Amino acid sequence: METMETQENATLQTLERLRAESIDAGGQARKEDQHRKGKLTARERINLLLDEHTFEEFDVLKAGRGGSLGQEKNYLGDGVITGHGSIDGREVFVFSQDFTVLGGSLGEAHAQKICKVMDIAVKVGAPIIGLNDSGGARIQEGVDALAAYGEIFHRNVRASGVVPQISCIMGPCAGGAVYSPSITDFVFMVEDSSYMFVTGPSVVKTVTHQDITSEDLGGARVHSQKSGVAHFTVANDILCLREVRRLINYLPSSNRQRGPINDLSDAANRTDPALDYLVPNNSSQTYDMNVLIHSILDGAEFMEVHARFARNIICGFGRLGGQTVGLVANQPAVLAGVLDNDASYKAGRFVRFCDAFNIPLISLVDVPGFMPGPDQEHGGIIRHGAKLLYAFTEATVPRICVIVRKAYGGAYLVMNSKHIHCDVNLAWPTAEIAVMGPKGAAEVIHRKEIYSSDNPEAVLNQKMEEYRATFANPFLAARRGYIDDVIFPRDTRVHLIRTLQMLDSKRAKGPERKHGNIPL
Ligand code: HXC
Repeated sequence: METMETQENATLQTLERLRAESIDAGGQARKEDQHRKGKLTARERINLLLDEHTFEEFDVLKAGRGGSLGQEKNYLGDGVITGHGSIDGREVFVFSQDFTVLGGSLGEAHAQKICKVMDIAVKVGAPIIGLNDSGGARIQEGVDALAAYGEIFHRNVRASGVVPQISCIMGPCAGGAVYSPSITDFVFMVEDSSYMFVTGPSVVKTVTHQDITSEDLGGARVHSQKSGVAHFTVANDILCLREVRRLINYLPSSNRQRGPINDLSDAANRTDPALDYLVPNNSSQTYDMNVLIHSILDGAEFMEVHARFARNIICGFGRLGGQTVGLVANQPAVLAGVLDNDASYKAGRFVRFCDAFNIPLISLVDVPGFMPGPDQEHGGIIRHGAKLLYAFTEATVPRICVIVRKAYGGAYLVMNSKHIHCDVNLAWPTAEIAVMGPKGAAEVIHRKEIYSSDNPEAVLNQKMEEYRATFANPFLAARRGYIDDVIFPRDTRVHLIRTLQMLDSKRAKGPERKHGNIPL
């Protein structure tokens, strides 16, 4: 009897010792290093991300096989912590790379652990959140490390559109390793402690003789403002994890579900008389579209995606009547709200995310057209603009369009118009729906009359006025039935909520095919 008890104690002690070894990971000194760099450790991050005491860890005792050089220490856990837990009571899967173990580098066992949680996440239909902090492919493991990355990429692609995938870049992310986050739906980057690039500063120096820092090459600011790789930037690890929790709150767990309903106690019949005066009388004057967005959404709560990139278009999540909606709105306060290459890419990808995950789409339109000029044409405005056109057209979720002011030419069609089959198209009385703006139109169709007159300016103004009276309003389109209703701006929220309720049971199916061929 006594021997059995001693044996049991010994087994428990072994388990305790092994778990402690795994949790200790790279040791106290390296954890302190991590703190000195302003970063949290992999476990601290998981604890902040998930609801308290909900983390269930997998593979705490899994070890690597060691590299071909036979040099590195074999760590239990192999430099990544994986498992599942909840965020506000809803299940999520998580992996958190541990920089204290071989620089968080990715070897075979490390990748197998990540693949395991990805596989289960897809099976049960729950989001995957990756906390990346890694020196990349584990050099000692050679081709095994490369193969391991391939397995993760494969799963990222298979999971795309099935469960939401979120990547947080909380340290280095270099080389081919960047492609896993870039396939995922949303990338968060922590300012000053994270960077992403395919080739680092030293290779840049060798190949192009340019001196550049990691921050200037691929820091959070660069990727949030210039490249568009990062959807969100945050000041530190704590804020990053808080923002991920906030994002998860808008999203369904998988493509088989709807987003969580969250009652923000905001009346569905709330009107806002100030909206009647939002659009200036002079149509060349600007205003801030955020005023309209915040006015209509439940509790004025809006989570903007890509807030610093292509600011001429606004994309993000909010709630109407408690249900998550995806908003795509032109921003007249930036570049007059024109559509350019970056704006088309940004909104196109956002629309596809919403469509994949059953999130109704609402467009708020004030668009003077596509950006003219050789920069944009040569940069591919034709194929980039087509992405947004394609994305809205193929979307089968409930789609509502509100034309606030300008809706000119192809950009009008692209922004979720009735002609590409949005479900309901509303317009404010300030809407201007036309092939182009009054000046351009008058100059094209009355060129001879204007320039042969003694007072070209006066004739131009007169022709512009005539054009405005005919086209720069929503009434012609309403007579044709292209606009379902011209509404009072103050009532926009009320109409949107009622329309969403009506569309709630919408079912739409496209033709049988393997997949379409979006102009990527
Ligand atoms: C093995 C690595 C490693 C790696 C870091 N370490 N990166 N071990 N493979 N890729 C180890 C270091 O040897 C060190 O171990 C510990 O992690 C911490 O690294 P430090 O260099 O001391 O830290 P720091 O000064 O903060 O610099 C971090 C770093 C640097 C910038 C990430 O370590 C670095 O440049 N690493 C190599 C990055 C790289 O080129 N990776 C390959 C990218 S290509 P000790 O024991 O001394 O503490 C790639 C291909 C993917 O990933 C392809 C997919 C298809």
